[in-house]
Amino acid sequence: MTEITTAQPRSLTTALDIPRPPDLSWYVQARQPVGYEVNLTRGLLNPDNPALARSVGADGYTSVRTLVVVDKVVDGLYGKALRAYFDAWRVDARWKVMPGDEDTKNLEQAVEVTAAMTEMGILRRTEKVVVVGGGVLMDVVGLAASLYRRGAPYVRVPTTLVGQVDAGVGVKTGVNHGTHKNRLGTYFAPEITLIDPEFLRTVEPRHIANGLAEIIKMALIKDASLFRLLEETVAGIDGDALADCGPAMGEVVSRAIAGMLDELEPNLWEWVLERSVDYGHTFSPSLELRADPPLLHGEAVAVDMAVCVALAVGRGLLSQADAERALGLMVAARLPIAHPVFTPELLEVGLADAVKHRDGLQRLPLTNGIGDCVFVNDVTGDELRRALEFVHAYAGTRDGVRDGS
Ligand SMILES: NC(=O)c1ccc[n+]([C@@H]2O[C@H](COP(=O)([O-])OP(=O)(O)OC[C@H]3O[C@@H](n4cnc5c(N)ncnc54)[C@H](O)[C@@H]3O)[C@@H](O)[C@H]2O)c1
Ligand SMILES: [Zn+2]
Repeated sequence: MTEITTAQPRSLTTALDIPRPPDLSWYVQARQPVGYEVNLTRGLLNPDNPALARSVGADGYTSVRTLVVVDKVVDGLYGKALRAYFDAWRVDARWKVMPGDEDTKNLEQAVEVTAAMTEMGILRRTEKVVVVGGGVLMDVVGLAASLYRRGAPYVRVPTTLVGQVDAGVGVKTGVNHGTHKNRLGTYFAPEITLIDPEFLRTVEPRHIANGLAEIIKMALIKDASLFRLLEETVAGIDGDALADCGPAMGEVVSRAIAGMLDELEPNLWEWVLERSVDYGHTFSPSLELRADPPLLHGEAVAVDMAVCVALAVGRGLLSQADAERALGLMVAARLPIAHPVFTPELLEVGLADAVKHRDGLQRLPLTNGIGDCVFVNDVTGDELRRALEFVHAYAGTRDGVRDGS
């Protein structure tokens, strides 16, 4: 009889000792450098300006191909100039015209863009996709580019104020899914973003105010000089003034972009959940979902910021006078600061949602004086109630309430 022993002395190492799956494990670590340019330029569609041509690899002599995905409204306004520009630079541009509205920001649209890439037989690295439009199209085409063969180069040309100071300058892409905003998305940097304020000349006033909300946010959390500049100029800020890009407007836009990039760069993938750029983005998602008629994103952000201004007063982080300046600036920018849907109960729901999104803590950014930011984790329902009362008392004396009628 043969005796079978399974326990072997550790010193007798044989092939049998090598652990078998599932006990084997490897750990792979890699880093991917990310670099992209954000250029503020004038006369982007003037053939004398080489920026857009260079971004797709054109030199004016050799023909190059590119896929231009353009917002339908923008195509109507600038399509002729875009086509003339690309012709002048011998760019063989294929066109895909798409709606750029929030209710068409879905996965099907992103897949449609990838279908256009397939149909064109776009070369994987050298031929670029150029997206020309507002934040919606930036997000949809960015997502398509990140999905196509696991990543294809693309160039952003944002044509709205939100696009130019926010959606076009970061690395987030996304589409709405189910009942959730931006539920499906990726982090995928463009090769370059080309910003020409001239596009803003035709943007509707409500959409200019929408973008101003994000600029006011940057001013409140990190740039007191920008805040003062906005106070001085807000009455005259419209599409034409921004497009003319005089010294003051040039400074407003460039400070907003620089501030945004400064905040994003060290935290591009949002590993750190304390993000000052989330200021005004805690309660607003709940409001955006429920307001009827719908609010634009920046409008909901303004209503949220007003509550945060009041919360900061309650905590002694902001003086009453500075709070009134902040609320006054939003009203002067033609933004709402209160909304009937925004009840204390909804604020609590919004905060609870934000806690989930922020991995278990409130991480609520509040102004620490104008131009600085702190994070708090212990805001109570009572504080929210008092904050709303503060805003309503202020709004009662100003035309700051959009009642949805
Ligand atoms: N990825 C990010 O980091 C990020 C940041 C902020 C916002 N966003 C997203 O951006 C979207 C909002 O962007 P938006 O405010 O630009 O909206 P949008 O893209 O819907 O554009 C607003 C409207 O303006 C039109 N338009 C675009 N350019 C124009 C021009 N030059 N002249 C006249 N009309 C023009 C569009 O057709 C549209 O009807 C939201 O979906 C939001 O989630 C993304
Ligand atoms: Zn925003």
